[in-house]
Amino acid sequence: MKRVFFGLEFIAGVVAIVVAAIVVGSALGSATLVRAAMEKSRSESAANGNQPALAVAVAHGQKLFAVNCSHCHADDATGDEGPDLHGLTKSDERIKAIITNGVKGEMPAFGKKLQDADKDALIGFLRSLH
Ligand code: HEC
Repeated sequence: MKRVFFGLEFIAGVVAIVVAAIVVGSALGSATLVRAAMEKSRSESAANGNQPALAVAVAHGQKLFAVNCSHCHADDATGDEGPDLHGLTKSDERIKAIITNGVKGEMPAFGKKLQDADKDALIGFLRSLH
């Protein structure tokens, strides 16, 4: 009787250890899976998450350019009455100042017509030209 009891206790102990191992193992396993999934989505959004916003801003800048600038700088910004705007070496701030204030006797000021975000979109478009 005593031996049987010990036997049962031994089996119960083994079962408890196995169950504990499964619980801990699956918790660790799922934590690892969750972490891997989070890292994957984070790196995917870093890789292409900013791309749509940038493309939208550049497209917006291109539209603004067609309306406000292309009759002097040409549709493709290669220049006409105004200079070619490819490969500008001026800083964003300088370009923004030119758009805002214009160039006396050469280029009109757009400070009243365009919002700050519009100027940024235009600069984004100009920077997208190579
Ligand atoms: C009336 C014609 C005209 C219009 C419209 C015009 N520009 Fe200009 N732009 C010029 C001329 C001319 C110059 C050269 C000025 C100079 O001699 O410094 C110039 C210069 C510039 C420069 C400096 C280029 C450089 O090489 O440093 C930038 C940038 C520029 N324009 C952007 C724009 C943008 C953006 C728009 C539209 C929002 C625009 N321009 C609209 C005529 C125009």
